[in-house]
Amino acid sequence: MNETVTTLIERRRRECATAMKTDAARAAIALHGTPVLLLDPSIVVRQYTRLRDALPFVRFHYAVKACAHPAVIAALAEAGCDFDVASGEEIALLDDHGVLDGGSARARVIHTHPIKKDAEISEALAAGIRTFVIDNEAELEKFRRVGVPGVDLLVRLAYRSPHAGSDLSSKFGVSAERAEELVARADAVGLDVAGFSFHVGSQLDDPARFAAAIRETDALMQRLEVARGRRFTLLDIGGGFPVAYNRPVADLEEIARAIRPVLAPLAERYRILAEPGRVLVAESALLVTSVDGVADRPDGRWYYLDDGLYGSYSNVLTEGVHPLVFAERDLHGSASPRRTATLAGPTCDSADVIARECDLPALAVGDLLVSPVMGAYTSVTATRFNGRPFTPVAVLTPVRLPAGVMSRLA
Ligand SMILES: Cc1ncc(COP(=O)(O)O)c(C=O)c1O
Repeated sequence: MNETVTTLIERRRRECATAMKTDAARAAIALHGTPVLLLDPSIVVRQYTRLRDALPFVRFHYAVKACAHPAVIAALAEAGCDFDVASGEEIALLDDHGVLDGGSARARVIHTHPIKKDAEISEALAAGIRTFVIDNEAELEKFRRVGVPGVDLLVRLAYRSPHAGSDLSSKFGVSAERAEELVARADAVGLDVAGFSFHVGSQLDDPARFAAAIRETDALMQRLEVARGRRFTLLDIGGGFPVAYNRPVADLEEIARAIRPVLAPLAERYRILAEPGRVLVAESALLVTSVDGVADRPDGRWYYLDDGLYGSYSNVLTEGVHPLVFAERDLHGSASPRRTATLAGPTCDSADVIARECDLPALAVGDLLVSPVMGAYTSVTATRFNGRPFTPVAVLTPVRLPAGVMSRLA
């Protein structure tokens, strides 16, 4: 990794400058005003292609929760990417895009929420989904009651990663010992545990941890295969690939280099799946905001923007993201005079602060600001707190949407 914080910020500044100069971006800002998210689905396809090239023996199921915009789903569906869902609404979205057509849900869609209502299981089964995740006996019991043959269950393992942006094993997943008990229980009631899944933690900048989790899971699978005289067929390595927001991280090729030697030989024994979210969509969107207010407080200059933590900058709250925020006037060379300032969101909540001690030129009401890397866990986790509307998403590059989706967007 040759990038430094300085060169990363410079690269991000150039990316924002290039995008903001395009006719599509100018037209979107003229049409919607601010705030507006500028989404480029071609970047999502680029990221999918990078993943596929780096790990050709893995089937990638995009975790729809990261960004459920129709243009993202359409672009990935057309590129041949598969999907990972967690709710009925996400399944309906895929249905709109023809992903479930002709019985293809069985191969193309997995349901990875470890806790589901009976009705949600039935809905997913009716849509043709046959791969589900469990991590407790109550969930196993739900599948026993439903009694649909041909369901592949994955037992989710917990690998704690306190240094990940979001340690997903603090809420879900079981130890190897509990997993063994769940497999025994499933065997006893005639359900098929096809394999195991895990999520090393979202935004995990630690290639060795990815490799260790794969090694540990394979060791468990091999041990259980011998102990129980059976074969497993699926290994799901989850998501977690990190993205460079305000500091360099291991890029996906670097993570692939670390896990390939462990994973490639396993592809001869198991079907290998992954559920990436953030790495596919984060870099595909820029957020453009403007300054609504300026105030000098005892701790310095404050700029109040028209989007904040309860809107598109929800990633600051839910994901611990430190977004870069460029003044538009800085995009083509540093404007002066400069001062440090606090950037706050538009709601009345004093917690609604996007960033502190930002180095910015002097700004006035109406000036534009741009944040890169705003495609993941932003629009999907935004709220309407304080009666503020959701930030519109403008799609910068053409993507073919199914007719039904077009009419609903119109
Ligand atoms: C079950 C599951 N799979 C995949 C993902 C996507 O993870 P990431 O965005 O870190 O790739 C998540 C994120 O919350 C998840 O909960």
